[in-house]
Formats: sequence, structure tokens, C-alpha cells
Amino acid sequence: MEKLFELSHQNPALFLDILESIKDAIFISDHVGTTLWLNSASEAMCGIPKNKITGRNVRDLEKEGLFKPSVLRMVLEEGRNVSTVQTVGEGRKYIATGHLVKNEEGQIIAAVAHLRDITDAVKNTSKLQEIEELLEKYSAQIRKLTNMQQNRIGVENVNLGGKSNSRIIAKKIVEKIAAVDTTALIVGETGTGKSLTAEKIHLLSKRRNGPFVQINCASLPDSLLESELFGYEKGSFTGATSKGKTGLIKAAESGTLFLDEIGEMPLHLQTKILHFIQSKTYMPIGAREPRHADVRIIAATNRDLEQMVAESKFRSDLFYRMNILTVNIPSLRESRDDIEDLAIYFLNMFNEKYNKNKRFSNGVLKNFIHYSWPGNVRELENLIERLVILSEDEFIEEKDLPQKMMEQHMISKSPYISNNATMTEILEEIEKKMIIDALEKENSTRKAANFLGVTQSLLMRRVRKYNIKLVVEESKTFVKQHYEE
Ligand SMILES: Nc1ncnc2c1ncn2[C@@H]1O[C@H](COP(=O)(O)OP(=O)(O)OP(=O)(O)O)[C@@H](O)[C@H]1O
Ligand SMILES: [Mg+2]
Repeated sequence: MEKLFELSHQNPALFLDILESIKDAIFISDHVGTTLWLNSASEAMCGIPKNKITGRNVRDLEKEGLFKPSVLRMVLEEGRNVSTVQTVGEGRKYIATGHLVKNEEGQIIAAVAHLRDITDAVKNTSKLQEIEELLEKYSAQIRKLTNMQQNRIGVENVNLGGKSNSRIIAKKIVEKIAAVDTTALIVGETGTGKSLTAEKIHLLSKRRNGPFVQINCASLPDSLLESELFGYEKGSFTGATSKGKTGLIKAAESGTLFLDEIGEMPLHLQTKILHFIQSKTYMPIGAREPRHADVRIIAATNRDLEQMVAESKFRSDLFYRMNILTVNIPSLRESRDDIEDLAIYFLNMFNEKYNKNKRFSNGVLKNFIHYSWPGNVRELENLIERLVILSEDEFIEEKDLPQKMMEQHMISKSPYISNNATMTEILEEIEKKMIIDALEKENSTRKAANFLGVTQSLLMRRVRKYNIKLVVEESKTFVKQHYEE
């Protein structure tokens, strides 16, 4: 220290030289605010030569808009050290700290401002805020879209029952589930009407006047799913500026929360949901106190949850909790007796929507009854919408049907299937034949999958299942048994 004083005696400007060498801006005024000195970093920051600033009072510089606000003016007025965010010149942002310099008698002789550029850091926080706002907007849109989808159908008027035993049973179970107020699980293949059933249960239950809120657990990444469900507290993870967010559990207060595709929910959220089901309380992200909500949970899945439990991919306690009340929505293949009524229901619906008066020819309905409907009711609904719009004449004929449906119908009449085969055997035979036909036609597994409207991996699983031998030659794929013949 003494050595330093000695050096400063030899060179009175020593400390100014030191201040000159640092990257942050340093600005010194006297006790009334007249600028005495600034370093080169300050000069660069202001964009004005030093000699145009020295000798000027910080209040005037502030009035001219160079500093918004002037930290030195604040320090001198308040008589204490001050920190603030200062905008300089064209808008760069600085953390500005002002210090008072006093003599031995305690009188103020100068004030020093130290400014550090935080423009980039500020940009990043506002980016975070932007992202947050965007997410808020998206989730509002998702909510709106799902509501629109529900309104489109008019769930109140949909009849879940039918002629087939499996549908009659499902309808009875739905009515029983609606009469109680516990967690329920809906299982079924894709497009069978699980979402529709969830809403129907809500509308038949005593919660019908409360909200029906739904979320698809597969549609969001884990962290978003968590904040979407439970919400978060103000400032819990994006800094003090975050407004906080209401979770869907709260939004479903006194109503029903429908967790679609629950099989895709990550394990740690399954734990939180189980806790909520058991205690009716939950913790928003960043909250200190648990919140209470009066919400009924209904979940749906097209996965085999029992199998997932066996593979430790789904929590067994949550599964058993939900599995107390389960309804199985049958596939169309398991409820063929209902296909005709459903087809006519959709025909009337789309005739009305598009102001048409189309009818089915008998052959068309027969095709419908024999087809395998991998996309279930949704596939039937979409097909009929297309047929109503696209078919030329009043009668929708077999020629208007998609080719794959015609082919299946042909195969189902094929003599190779014995009369006493079970339905599964017949379907498997049809599936195998379709796959072989598609592979022979396309000579590529990718194109064949495309042709059949399935993923390539699903196609390959079936190829293995049916033991179809493939040969690849000159980048073309051939089916071996036929290739050798
Ligand atoms: N019994 C029914 N009567 C009339 N329309 C139905 C019926 N069941 C299902 N639908 C219609 O079929 C379509 C698919 O139904 P939904 O979306 O409920 O199926 P999902 O099982 O939830 O499908 P995913 O597994 O893809 O979520 C919807 O447009 C729905 O309105
Ligand atoms: Mg669904």
C-alpha cells in the first residue's frame, strides 16, 4: 500500500491511469455535479468526445438525454451511494453505481459513477419473457382448439351405445362411471371415441356445470406439461419479471380434468398426479404451500398400461388407482354391428354440413362392414366426409371407395380363408395378404408402408410377425416366396 502511495506521489495521475485501463465506464464529478473526468470506456459509451463532456454538469447532460437517469445526480441529491439501470445515448443499458467521495471532515468532494454494460443480459431476459408470453399464447390456442373440436361434435347428442354387445356394455359402464365422482380410465385403440367418451362422462356427471378441461400428455415436452398442469408461482423460474401462470388443475376447479394419452406422462409427473388424486392438493412450481382443488381426473390411453407397469414405464400405484373404474371402448372391428348405423349417422351429419343429399349404395355399406378400420370411428368419419364432398352422383358407389378398402373386400371373399376361422385369424390373413401385395407392387418397404398408410416400423413388425421373407436386390425389395416361384 505504501509503495502504491509512493508511486502515486511520483505520478499523480497513477490512479486515473489505472481507471483508464479498465473496460467498465468510470465517470467522476465534483460535489455539485460538474464533470471532472471520464475514462475512454465512458467516452465510447457516450459517443461524444471527452472534451465535450468535461466541465458540464450532470443535470444538463441528463436533460439533454445523454443519461436516463443520471446516477451521479441521484447520488449527490440523495447523499448516499445509489445503484440503478441507466440508459445511455441510443439505448444501451448499464448497471450504474454511484459512490460519494468524502474528505476527512466527511464533506462530499466528488462523486464517482461506475457503469457496466448489461444490454445483452437485458436482451436475454426480455427474450425469456417473450418466450413465456408466446407459450402462454400457444397454450391458450391449444385450449381454444380443443374446445372447438368438442363443439364441432355436439357431444350431448352423440349416442355412445349401439347394437353390438361390446358397445352396449361400454355404454352401461360409462353411465355407472358418470354416476360416481372418482378417477376413471378410458382405454381403446386410436380413434375409437375415448376423448368423446371422457366428455360424455363429464356431461352426464354432477360436475356437468363445471369446466371440462383437457390436455394431451403426449403433445408437450415434460417441463411444459408440468407447468401447464400445475402452473407456477410468480418469479419461480424466469426471474422476478415472470407473472406466474394458472395451471389446468386450477382451471378445472369444480369440473373435470381429462388427461389424454396418460401413458405418455413422465414418471415424476405421474407421482404428482397420484398425490393430487389422493389428497386433492398440489404444488404449483416454485410454490411454498400446497393448493387445494376440487377436480375429478379422467384419463385415457391407447397403450397397454399393465404392460407398461410390468416394464416400469408406468407407476403401478397410479395404474391401480385409475384402473378401479375402467371402460373399454371397442374398436370398429369388435363392433361391426354398429358400422352401418355410424356410417348413416355421419352421412346425415355431412349431408347437412355441405348441403347435399348423398346416399350409400348397398355395396358400399357391405365394404364398410368388411373393412378392418385401423383408424376406427375417426377413419369412418373422415372417409364419409370425403365421399360426401368428392363423389359425383347422388349415390356413393363402390368405385368411389379408396382402393385399399376394395382390395380388403376382395380378399375377405377369398377362398383361402376357411369358414370356421376366427375373426382374428381372418383379419391376420387379410393383413398379411395386403402387406405382401403392397410389397410386391412397390418393391420398397418405405413405399409399401406409405401405400398402406402405416409407419415403416409398424410394417416391419408385421413382416416379422407373419414371417414374410424379404430379399433386397439392386436396392429393391422383393418378397422371397413369390420371388422364387
Ligand atoms: N359413438 C360415436 N358417435 C359419433 N361420433 C363418434 C363416436 N365415437 C367417436 N366418434 C367420432 O370419432 C372421432 C374420434 O373420436 P375421439 O377423438 O374421441 O377418439 P379417441 O379414441 O380419443 O382418439 P385418439 O386415440 O386418437 O385420441 C371424433 O370425431 C368423434 O366425434
Ligand atoms: Mg383422443
